[in-house]
Amino acid sequence: MKKDAKAGFATRAIHAGMRKDTVYGALTAPIYQTSTFIFKDCEQGARRFTCQEEGFIYSRLGNPTLMMLEDKIANLEGAEAGLCFSSGMGAISSVFWTILKAGDHVVADSVLYGCTFALLSHGLARYGVETTFVDTRDLAALKKAIKPNTKMVYVETPANPTLKIVDLDAIAKLVKGVNKDIMCVVDNTFATPYLQRPIELGFDVTVHSTTKYINGHGDVIAGAACGKLDFITQVRLFGQKDMTGSVLGPQEAFLILRGLKTLQIRMERHCATAMEVAAYLDKHPKVEKVHFPGLKTHDGYEIAQKQMSGPGGMISFEVKGGRKAGAQLLDNLELCSLAVSLGDAETLIEHPASMTHSTYTAEELKEAGIPEGLVRFSVGLEDAADIIADLEQGFTHVK
Ligand SMILES: Cc1ncc(COP(=O)(O)O)c(C=O)c1O
Repeated sequence: MKKDAKAGFATRAIHAGMRKDTVYGALTAPIYQTSTFIFKDCEQGARRFTCQEEGFIYSRLGNPTLMMLEDKIANLEGAEAGLCFSSGMGAISSVFWTILKAGDHVVADSVLYGCTFALLSHGLARYGVETTFVDTRDLAALKKAIKPNTKMVYVETPANPTLKIVDLDAIAKLVKGVNKDIMCVVDNTFATPYLQRPIELGFDVTVHSTTKYINGHGDVIAGAACGKLDFITQVRLFGQKDMTGSVLGPQEAFLILRGLKTLQIRMERHCATAMEVAAYLDKHPKVEKVHFPGLKTHDGYEIAQKQMSGPGGMISFEVKGGRKAGAQLLDNLELCSLAVSLGDAETLIEHPASMTHSTYTAEELKEAGIPEGLVRFSVGLEDAADIIADLEQGFTHVK
């Protein structure tokens, strides 16, 4: 395929970034399961190390199977370049190491995936990087939090686990208006580039846990970052190569390339089923509150309509009776699996306060607006009626 931005999303998810196998004509991407690459002579080795000649050196610096995946994800995100990692946290930490140094300041939204929150609040704080957590829906609070040494603004939307929606276009405009050098970084894991393309909305960098929807089959841990070629090259040659070493294996890259072929149809189905499940939960007498960007009652509904092409497959909700009642539901589901992670074919359900967000103290959860009894639900690809029937029988155990 020509790298033609005019081709549709589904076509690009299948064909973008792929290189024809000129040796054997294999249809699917060969898995270049090699740590290193042979140089013709010393001259060539030296030229490759000084970037005077294109070509592979060692798989921590690049690999042909990964290159196809990186080009494909960048194409889907509408970015100049992409880079893959051995986990979402590998992507996030490699990007942070590249942007930040001691003495710098970060403004981050208060609702983040638990390990990202830990990296900023417990990890980077030890190395002299200060973070101010604010609710970035409040643009005045965001503006007030920016300091002369602010180097990065970091958000998730929809956010894990509350499904909070923040206005990417408004945030990018505000931040760049204050200081155009501040890097705007967003975790696009929940939306995927099919539903939301933050770079088109003025963000500099997107990061992903490709463990989730992008791979979509629950069999890989991986991450990605996309942005301008210059920046992604810095992440490749510093953040990833020297700081984290968080390099994806070719076998995993192959599985993600396979998963991506069906991203669009999977996301359409996740969205449609999640709409049905959210409507069911919203009317349920044992449910206190449903958080889902596809419901008109969600406070981010209008912004989601503007910046996303669908609500996604993640729902969170509060069971009447709080944490104890939530546990009675979770412990009694049969089709839905009690497990962290998300974006898989199987419906997964978990309790953020004691699992994915246990890095927040009870006080931090309260400050961030993450309810203690919140349940996070990743709607899978099963029939909506079966998921709802399982919830229905689960709720009979909630006393
Ligand atoms: C929104 C979000 N970002 C990042 C991560 C980290 O990804 P990984 O588990 O692939 O390191 C997760 C994991 O759950 C996540 O939900």
